[in-house]
Amino acid sequence: MSRILEQMETPALLLDEARMERNIERMRRQVERLGVVFRPHVKTNKSFEVTRRMMSSAQGPITVSTLLEADFFAARGVRDILYAVCIAPNKIDHVLRLQAGGVQMSVLVDSVEAASLLGERLRAHPAGGGVGVLIEVDSDGHRSGVRPESAQLLEIARALQAAGVALRGVMTHAGSSYDCRSAEALRAMAEQERAQIVLAARRLRAIGIACPVVSVGSTPTALAAEHLEGVTELRAGVFVFFDLCMAGIGVCSLHDIALSVLATVIGHQREKGWTLLDAGWMAMSRDRGTASQPVDQGYGLICDVAGRPLPDYILLGANQEHGIMARRPGTAPDALHLPVGTQVRILPNHACSTAAQYAEYQVIAADGQLSESWPRFSGW
Ligand SMILES: Cc1ncc(COP(=O)(O)O)c(C=O)c1O
Repeated sequence: MSRILEQMETPALLLDEARMERNIERMRRQVERLGVVFRPHVKTNKSFEVTRRMMSSAQGPITVSTLLEADFFAARGVRDILYAVCIAPNKIDHVLRLQAGGVQMSVLVDSVEAASLLGERLRAHPAGGGVGVLIEVDSDGHRSGVRPESAQLLEIARALQAAGVALRGVMTHAGSSYDCRSAEALRAMAEQERAQIVLAARRLRAIGIACPVVSVGSTPTALAAEHLEGVTELRAGVFVFFDLCMAGIGVCSLHDIALSVLATVIGHQREKGWTLLDAGWMAMSRDRGTASQPVDQGYGLICDVAGRPLPDYILLGANQEHGIMARRPGTAPDALHLPVGTQVRILPNHACSTAAQYAEYQVIAADGQLSESWPRFSGW
């Protein structure tokens, strides 16, 4: 394998197919046990080859974070798409085009203002009646959404009703699960996410508003949930590759991380204990997600070219195209000499942001051979 990798120009984004398949299978078994519909999030991978392996059918369903993702997967046959960022007025026509083209689109609102505006636009369009509208619920205080016990939740539902739009359901994303530090905290966060969204659905039904879809999900809560009573669907995205942030939370091990950046030694500053690599922040992204975790992995954890972690070597610093590999602060000084031209692999802090730096995945097949390259896209 390494002989073929050695012919590659670096930096390059490597995808370990066997690890990815294992991660997908792990989530598939969990979804099956929980008895819910799986709506994978494609934002991490933005690739047809990866997403088609995650979907339960060629038609979906999927979750997207941009309408470009929706366009891309609609053009490849996906017919059920949740755009999981609150809708802005300047995107409604785009959603309606997708709906008119035969895709079951669902969108989010978390204000009366957006609900009324959206309702008006949907009513005025022949395809508008088919667009699903969900209310985003804030189950953990980390981002958008309305609190499940708030008056606003019912007011939004009534505003939709007044505009002649049937509510499709409620959804939440417990993003603060990324701050959990123990299995117990993860289980509690998963239960909080479930209980809060079920409360929102119950309050809507109590005032006579149907709420068929009850949607939750983040990778940490999806894998920690003991049961999902009252929930109909689960969303998750980063699990497909995992990353150092997920390993830091304890959701996966280093051996589950399917994504790495192939880089080459370009020089040394021996008195400083530095090995210079041709992978800086353009190759890794600026994400420093592990900085707030008990083990700070710098800009990434260094492995040998076969993917075995080199103990305590991290990408300590990063310029645009230079990466500074060094031993983790507080450990013994550098004892390893990697000659110029040596290749290493770097595990990323955050799979979504590192993958976003590349136009393709270089796939390493289950037999360890570099096989195909799979395109991926970026932008909006
Ligand atoms: C609305 C929504 N749902 C689901 C997810 C999936 O979360 P994860 O990548 O942790 O699986 C995200 C990720 O940001 C999200 O924003």
